[in-house]
Amino acid sequence: MESILVAGGAGYVGSHACKMLARAGYLPVTIDNLATGHADAVKWGPLVQADIGDSAAVLAALDQYDIKAAMHFAASSLVAESVAKPDLYYANNVIATLRLIEALTSRGVRHIVFSSSAAVYGAVEAGLISEDTPQRPTNPYGETKRVIEGALRWIGEAKGFTWAALRYFNAAGADEDGEIGERHDPETHLIPNVVRATLGTGPALKIFGSDYPTPDGSAVRDYVHVADLADAHVAALAWLKAGGAGRAFNLGSGRGLSNLEIVAAAEQALGRKPPFTLAGRRAGDPPSLVADPAAAKAAFGWTPTRSDPLTLIRTVAAFETAQAAKTKL
Ligand code: UFG
Repeated sequence: MESILVAGGAGYVGSHACKMLARAGYLPVTIDNLATGHADAVKWGPLVQADIGDSAAVLAALDQYDIKAAMHFAASSLVAESVAKPDLYYANNVIATLRLIEALTSRGVRHIVFSSSAAVYGAVEAGLISEDTPQRPTNPYGETKRVIEGALRWIGEAKGFTWAALRYFNAAGADEDGEIGERHDPETHLIPNVVRATLGTGPALKIFGSDYPTPDGSAVRDYVHVADLADAHVAALAWLKAGGAGRAFNLGSGRGLSNLEIVAAAEQALGRKPPFTLAGRRAGDPPSLVADPAAAKAAFGWTPTRSDPLTLIRTVAAFETAQAAKTKL
């Protein structure tokens, strides 16, 4: 069984990728400092509890498991926090990542799949976003992702590894078997917040902004199910192994949904009206972000199959209900 190093395998997207890697016949070896990840989300392979910047720990894991390919999810990932603490984001997302890449190349790792973000684009005027859309990140989080994409390109060329940078749009949803899901504290994302408001396990939802230049005035996003993202990582790895070379791919459904459409979908999926109020815009939020995901489909056949709003909301509701029952026990 081939081992794959999964940096950040205890986190939201990383843990789902571990499950898909195991399903595809790999052993996912997680390295995670558990700063925001959860040890109990590491179910499909060993957990090395260490920081990705801890070269000795990374090298020991690479040697112990004879690793030749890696996925890198470990990062700080809150836009607002990145604006308040840019130094933290450069330290965690750039400096520690460069140390990780150095360790990987020193042991001859051949392929790296990197978690990038739609945040590399910043505020886009209109229309679908392709990989060639100019990148003008509007916050340090997006900037750090852009910097690492560049580092992968140049270091990859010099050291002879290939890479894929996967630019997620709005990751949402939970594992269909209910084993893992999104557990952020505090939770700032729309879908878990609308689900909690509807189930009565969280406060009434605030919709940030009702005066955007969009059809209903609320902001538009492209939601993609975390299990679809996980599938994309496994497919991108296969593509790299088959000779695919370094480049970035958008991962989104290609369909934009407004915040008010998400509220309506929650009512349809859960049979109850989510309580909500309209509030002012949240600083830094672009009006609309929708992916053109054609490149990922063309290169490695990726088509999201669970990213419709009802599946997104139902899987989150099932996970939230299970979590609430666990905390009561
Ligand atoms: N929103 C609300 N109420 C909430 C939470 C969110 O109205 O309680 C709105 C936001 O203002 C935004 C939309 O719902 O209009 C989506 O917000 P999220 O916080 O769910 O997601 P973002 O689009 O802000 O962020 C996502 C990823 C980031 C990534 C960014 C790229 O979570 O990692 O897209 O722009 F950087």
